[in-house]
Amino acid sequence: MTQKRCNVAVLASGTGSNFQAIVEACRRDDYPARVVCLVTDNPDAEALDIARRFEVAAHVVHAAPKKAGLPEPAETKIVSLCADHSVDLVALAGFMRILSGPLLSGFEGRIMNIHPSLLPSFKGLHAAKQALDYGAKVTGCTVHFVDRTVDGGAIILQACVEVADGDDEESLLQKIHEQEYRTYVRAIELYALDRLRIQGRRVMIAG
Ligand code: GRF
Repeated sequence: MTQKRCNVAVLASGTGSNFQAIVEACRRDDYPARVVCLVTDNPDAEALDIARRFEVAAHVVHAAPKKAGLPEPAETKIVSLCADHSVDLVALAGFMRILSGPLLSGFEGRIMNIHPSLLPSFKGLHAAKQALDYGAKVTGCTVHFVDRTVDGGAIILQACVEVADGDDEESLLQKIHEQEYRTYVRAIELYALDRLRIQGRRVMIAG
């Protein structure tokens, strides 16, 4: 591949299986992006082990645990880490903090998130359980741009998952995860190829 690759920072707080899927895709010669760093707010995140295994630079940003918001100094720190790594795109992958400050303004239109439901249904935490409790027959995952709302930014891609009668939260989440990996990798690829066109709430795929 001759064109410049899109530099991606992944922000994750936990297991990091989406982070791993993105890193694995980025190892392909024909994939137009590469992961330049992992940032986490959780020193015990399993994602850190994945970063070590795949030799991705990793940074822990210190912030009070179990709080939804990220203090402004922590967001400022992430912006400066992203500058150090010449980051083009920030991909949130199970990052359990709501952004509201410098990172959002510094990377407007350049932050993506993955959510385990078909938005706008089942925003917030425990989306698979919410879908089960509601009795939904279909749920899925959504990759969207991040704005100042929670799980409310313009939708890039979605994928469906059927809810089977025998599903519990764990089995449903497993099916959603499989779709998440594929969908997130594709959304980042489309961004890196400059094929996403935002028109109001709609994101069109060019070409
Ligand atoms: C995913 O289900 C994602 O949709 C949600 O958090 C979960 C992260 O899982 N935002 P993992 O850490 O990537 O395994």
